[in-house]
Amino acid sequence: ALPIILDCDPGHDDAIALVLALASPELELKAVTSSAGNQTPDKTLRNVLRMLTLLKRSDIPVAGGAVKPLMRDLIIADNVHGESGLDGPALPEPDFAPQNCTAVELMAKVLRESHTPVTLVATGPQTNVALLLNSHPELHAKIARIVMMGGAMGLGNWTPAAEFNIFVDPEAAEIVFQSGIPVVMAGLDVTHRAQIMAEDIARFRQTGNPVATVVAELLDFFMEYHKGEKWGFQGAPLHDPCTIAWLLKPEIFTTIERWVGVETQGKYTQGMTVVDYYGLSGNKPNTLVMIDVQREAFVDLLAERLNFYS
Ligand code: BDR
Ligand code: CA
Repeated sequence: ALPIILDCDPGHDDAIALVLALASPELELKAVTSSAGNQTPDKTLRNVLRMLTLLKRSDIPVAGGAVKPLMRDLIIADNVHGESGLDGPALPEPDFAPQNCTAVELMAKVLRESHTPVTLVATGPQTNVALLLNSHPELHAKIARIVMMGGAMGLGNWTPAAEFNIFVDPEAAEIVFQSGIPVVMAGLDVTHRAQIMAEDIARFRQTGNPVATVVAELLDFFMEYHKGEKWGFQGAPLHDPCTIAWLLKPEIFTTIERWVGVETQGKYTQGMTVVDYYGLSGNKPNTLVMIDVQREAFVDLLAERLNFYS
């Protein structure tokens, strides 16, 4: 199985990415670390523990990450994810504790001990990953690639130009893109096509096990925010699970290889990912950018994997 570490800020779609990863024998989840983003760092850490308790996987080491972005104050998305960060379903209280170390220390330990390079999956702001890269240059060779949810080619969902994860910590994201480690980017171009419709939620709910029920309830809540004319969506874009789905079934995604940089200072464009579509910068491509997904196959994958739970 492919060894992975998940750094996340649950967050409804982060939680579903975790559900998908742990239902997939192709992947071996070595650790989960929490980032500050959708909610404050205490809450996202607690949500990781609550989700792993639900999934009966308290054997997976967990550590809490940085309490704020590298150079900025934290912005949270409680308007999207609610007061707890995972509003909607009734989740169990955590039945285990995090490791007595930081997210960076836990990630470094996993990398050091692994005989094969490990894939980092990051579905929140890139703060922890950037800190890891800066503090452990000797471990770069142990990272196979960084698969992130973040950014877009010209779209924004937090400002006209910026996607939330990148906007929260643009300096961290820039460190990740320019690190020399291969990056795979699931930005809004693809995640807005990975929409879950009401009938998909009904299908997930029918699976009937407690995990599938929680996923359906998470999506009911997530759907509310995305309703209405502002976005013009028929459903809810399931951003973060695109990272895990790409690892499982890359053939259902369309990708292009391009250079990507992050705008950290723009007047209107702070936190924008600049994708050099036509190669005008002369910089070598550093990122595999996902631009489309076969929606039905994506939904089928989720539906099929929910049967894994009992
Ligand atoms: C990203 O922001 C968060 O609200 C979601 O969890 C996702 O990672 C989408 O812009
Ligand atoms: Ca997230």
